[in-house]
Amino acid sequence: MHSFENPIYVTRPTMPPLEEYQEMMTRLWETRWLTNNGAFHQELEARLCDYLDVEHLSLFCNATIALIVALQNFRITTGEVITTPFTFAATPHVLYWNGIQPVFCDIDPKTFNMDPARIEQLITPQTRAILPVHVYGTPCDIDAIQGIANRHGLTVIYDAAHTFGVRYHGKSLCSYGDASVLSFHATKLFSTGEGGALVTPSRACRERVDFLKNFGYADEETVIGPGINGKMNEFQAAFGLLQLKRIQAEIDHRREIDRIYRENLAGIPGITIPVEALHTQRNFAYFPILVDQTKYGISRDELHTRLRDKNVYARKYFHPLCSHYPCYAALPSANPQNLPVAERIAQQILCLPIYGTLDLSTVERISQFLGFFQKSSL
Ligand SMILES: Cc1ncc(COP(=O)(O)O)c(C=O)c1O
Repeated sequence: MHSFENPIYVTRPTMPPLEEYQEMMTRLWETRWLTNNGAFHQELEARLCDYLDVEHLSLFCNATIALIVALQNFRITTGEVITTPFTFAATPHVLYWNGIQPVFCDIDPKTFNMDPARIEQLITPQTRAILPVHVYGTPCDIDAIQGIANRHGLTVIYDAAHTFGVRYHGKSLCSYGDASVLSFHATKLFSTGEGGALVTPSRACRERVDFLKNFGYADEETVIGPGINGKMNEFQAAFGLLQLKRIQAEIDHRREIDRIYRENLAGIPGITIPVEALHTQRNFAYFPILVDQTKYGISRDELHTRLRDKNVYARKYFHPLCSHYPCYAALPSANPQNLPVAERIAQQILCLPIYGTLDLSTVERISQFLGFFQKSSL
């Protein structure tokens, strides 16, 4: 079977028509209002509140700074926070940057999210909060996590980087918990190149966050505290406004890709496709599979290499586990014996290409490769 002529990456941003962006830039050249809550920024915040069905949202330069500010907002700057090792580096790093020790909790083998049954045994007098991640946009066990938080007086901040547009029990997934952070990085379903948003539960909280992301300035002469520069600029906000106009088409195309992969891969021995979450309107941000070497014939790593040989750049999100990074590996909670499910999933996971401009015929061919590698390994 022939390789692809051009590389097929795991994702690619769908670009809006250049003329539309140029037209917005013409306006920017006239106003010269490039950042600090400009017109595009204000409009994007309003439109996102509408689209995501949330009341209070603050735009950021990226999700990492938004997570740091979320923790600062709740004054979580000492002690421990329970989080997952099966995530992108930013999740534990924001804890470290706030002077907090991450405590890694094992994950559920079906959802790949933090396993609530394992949280309570990790709580100590130093525990301040829980920082779960809705990995791949799949909702965490929100009720169980909230129950634990209520019983122990803990704050829940969701890393909702993957959840743009996901609804759970009829509500926006990013409206649960004490706060949620979305990422608009170039690899995300909805993108502003770099960018993110913090969804807050109240107007007062959102106002404080707005001050914190602007060096703590409440007005020209009042600094309420040690803030940071987390602002989104007008170039990003303009791009976001154009992306939002086409988001439904993006999701619809990805739904079709998801359907084709599911149909084609279902019968391949050793390939497991995660079950679709209940009560959830999905966003199809990722297409993860698990590779069981004993049944598939080759390992996940070998499959990854063979796909690369065909010019297909699938990604091992999230391998290695964050608990394996040298900066965290010595923590007691990072001991692999405490994280058996996360260890196994990190060895088996592979995310296949999915994005709004990916040809359906390419999806068919990638599926054929996966079947072919299994048969040829017999
Ligand atoms: C789970 C998760 N959290 C946080 C981030 C950080 O987002 P950003 O790149 O917008 O800072 C990402 C991805 O980039 C992510 O995948």
